[in-house]
Amino acid sequence: MMKQNDLKQAMTLAAEQTEARLLDLLEEKDSDLSLLFESMRYSAMAGGKRIRPYLTIAFCDLFGGRLENALYFAAAIEMVHTYSLIHDDLPCMDDDDLRRGKPTNHKVYGEAEAVLAGDALLTMAFEALTRASVSPTDAVRAVRCLSEAAGARGMVGGQMMDIRAEKISPDRETLMRLHKRKTGALITAAAELGCIAAGVTDEETLDACRQYAGGIGLAFQIIDDILDRYGDTATLGKQTGQDEKDGKTTFLTFADKNEAYSEAELLTDEAKAAIEVFDGSENLLLFADMLLHRTH
Ligand code: IPE
Ligand code: IPE
Ligand code: MG
Ligand code: MG
Ligand code: MG
Repeated sequence: MMKQNDLKQAMTLAAEQTEARLLDLLEEKDSDLSLLFESMRYSAMAGGKRIRPYLTIAFCDLFGGRLENALYFAAAIEMVHTYSLIHDDLPCMDDDDLRRGKPTNHKVYGEAEAVLAGDALLTMAFEALTRASVSPTDAVRAVRCLSEAAGARGMVGGQMMDIRAEKISPDRETLMRLHKRKTGALITAAAELGCIAAGVTDEETLDACRQYAGGIGLAFQIIDDILDRYGDTATLGKQTGQDEKDGKTTFLTFADKNEAYSEAELLTDEAKAAIEVFDGSENLLLFADMLLHRTH
């Protein structure tokens, strides 16, 4: 229990520090741009769980990096994630009205405006990466890490597979590759950015962290699919039953609730095993379990 409180405290602090950095980045005095920045803040400050920034900050800390270097990276990953949610909710994508307990961005600002708020958050994320006081080499590594994870071979590729999956039902293996891209890629990048902020270059270490994050990332999407079917809208802050409405193939197409949980549990255990060897990884091990048992 003590340890769980430690994790809770660390997560709350990481969320507060990331949100302060996001607010700094999203402040704009030029009145021509006030609506755009308002809509970017509307979604970015709506109170997500901030699990990706936590990973960045925790991995930076694990390897003795400075918090200050991790914060711009943490804000950047959350900006990319928020953009992905704004676009994911658009009528031409999942067509959702509720996100993070509030009306979706396009419901408040309009569709074209929501597309642009997403574009602006995505672009600003890369500006944020370059503001961290890391070496030029590490700044380039960070840019490459986030662009690969966010782009065609990462999250966007996964979203494309997901949209097509409404028309051509994928098999289980294809769905796993889809999940790895649309959700796993950004979660893996979050951990890797923390390593980069700490100046980690050892490939074996980086691989262990990627393995951990890849495992919890896949488990995270399996739980997301379970919560979409069995969760509660008020707790989740987003509408449930959307996958069924959209005729989406999800993990529950191939498994019942218990089997899906067992699969997520297995992935979580494998993920934890990858970083157990590192001194000070206790919070990250607890974090993996917390994600598995989450209700939102
Ligand atoms: C939701 O992500 C979309 C998925 C990738 C499953 P989160 O569950 O992390 O959403 P927020 O940031 O807490 O709103
Ligand atoms: C979204 O997956 C993953 C993204 C890249 C945004 P979902 O479509 O399942 O996410 P929710 O359930 O709307 O949050
Ligand atoms: Mg979607
Ligand atoms: Mg969706
Ligand atoms: Mg979902």
